[in-house]
Amino acid sequence: MTISIKLRSLLQRVESICVLTGAGISAESGVATFRGVDGLWSKLKPEELANFDAFMRNPELVWEWYNYRRQIVHDVKPNPAHYALVRLEELVKEFTLVTQNVDNLHYRAGNKRVLELHGNIERSYCIDCRKFVENVEVTTEKKVPRCSSCNGLIRPDVVWFGEMLPEGVFEAATEAASRCELFLTIGTSAVVYPAAGLPRAARNQGAYVVEVNTEPTEVSHTVNETLLGKAGEVLPQLITILEETRK
Ligand code: OAD
Repeated sequence: MTISIKLRSLLQRVESICVLTGAGISAESGVATFRGVDGLWSKLKPEELANFDAFMRNPELVWEWYNYRRQIVHDVKPNPAHYALVRLEELVKEFTLVTQNVDNLHYRAGNKRVLELHGNIERSYCIDCRKFVENVEVTTEKKVPRCSSCNGLIRPDVVWFGEMLPEGVFEAATEAASRCELFLTIGTSAVVYPAAGLPRAARNQGAYVVEVNTEPTEVSHTVNETLLGKAGEVLPQLITILEETRK
């Protein structure tokens, strides 16, 4: 992987960065990605698990799957790529972190503000009264949690197929993408919209767009530069360059 001279000099003076992350940033922590031969969607059907009708048909099955994933993300730790983004937030004046991930690892690493486009698996809410609950308990006796206020069904606070993104979050992400000098798209296959449109929106508004991924993606031809490699190895190198001028 080669970092261009243009990117090096931009990193030394940049004051406004927007970052979009996807499942690939958590791969080195041990969280499975969605696409590709080992991806979750190669073995499971999203329409049976990540969809509101499926939940109403069989909440027990959907909760079993989400509880399994909650356990996985709970047991893993943020990796050097997550920590690099915490450092970036400290170093740069204007920093926005937008994620498609629901695993909470950016917050656990220490980022202060994260625009979570697809929700957060550690949070749930009641489908009737909309009350939010953190870390709801799901056990073999209580397979489907119920709301303590109205007894409605509790669902994970994640965006399922066919659902709207949380209000205002995508708008804030688009605004940050439009005003940044440098946009980083990290560990995402960039096929799920509207998130996948952010790199192009940033470039259209004059940002320098850099992709970090282990392989080329749908947006590789539209970015200024692709850094092929693992996020946990590439991002710390970018931070080292940034730190050179900000000690
Ligand atoms: P994908 O599984 O589609 O893509 C993961 C990307 O990460 C791929 O392009 C991999 O090449 C790359 N990758 C894997 N390991 C990496 C590493 N160590 N370093 C850098 N890159 C690596 O995941 P997303 O793009 O996040 O939606 O998927 C988008 C959405 O589709 C998800 O948020 C989810 C899913 O359906 C919802 O749940 C609503």
